[in-house]
Amino acid sequence: MSYGEGMSDLIPFSTALRERSGAAHSSSEHSGFMADLIQGDGTREDYIALVAQHWFIYEALEAAAERMRRDPVASVFITDRLTRLPALAADLEFLVGPDWHDRIQPLPTTRRYIERIAQVGATWPGGFVAHHYTRYLGDLSGGLFIGRLMARRFGFETNGIGFYLFADIADPKAFKEHYREQLDAAPWDDAERERVIDEVLLAYRFNTELFDDLARAKAAA
Ligand code: HEM
Repeated sequence: MSYGEGMSDLIPFSTALRERSGAAHSSSEHSGFMADLIQGDGTREDYIALVAQHWFIYEALEAAAERMRRDPVASVFITDRLTRLPALAADLEFLVGPDWHDRIQPLPTTRRYIERIAQVGATWPGGFVAHHYTRYLGDLSGGLFIGRLMARRFGFETNGIGFYLFADIADPKAFKEHYREQLDAAPWDDAERERVIDEVLLAYRFNTELFDDLARAKAAA
């Protein structure tokens, strides 16, 4: 190893990223709206309100992914096996009805979140990967547990929780390990890695603030 290569040779980037975002993950995980859903204090309406916001987020994320398929760095993270938008549409059709699209609105944080995804999705591969990582690796981690919990609580079989069912990913652990190897192999210098970590922290903040919005919308209803 030569000097001047920074921390990158000592600690894998994916490990640094997980460690540096641990506190932000914890805030998101323990936010009131999510904690209520997990502990069984959330209602079916609360769950549906969350699914609706997910639809807007994944519409933005997956439109950005379509654009980023042509980028040599970002494209290695993109696969149809992750695509969530059709499952979210089917969930909403089941949960809300055929006119679901006319009956959902993005909350203020969701509007800011999707604006940011569109912005980095058009201009910055590392920023796009930060948002891709924050959502999909979360979906393949805590998300799997949340899906099972919601199914049990609200009596769903597969309709209504399709978002949490990755039919084409038989081994989420192996998928995540491979994803982390791709993060470690991305040709980012230390400064770019810092920027990517900052963007992951921003993505967590959007998710936490969205839970706050959802709690507020519920209180106002
Ligand atoms: C109640 C809510 C949540 C629970 C119970 C939960 C639980 C977990 C658990 C147990 C892991 C570790 C899995 C592993 O090591 O393979 C994990 C990882 C992760 N979660 Fe969550 N999570 C929650 C909410 C969230 C939210 C809201 C986000 C952001 C949108 C998120 C994003 C992530 C990410 C990106 C990882 C992967 C970290 C890495 O290995 O690099 N999680 N989650």
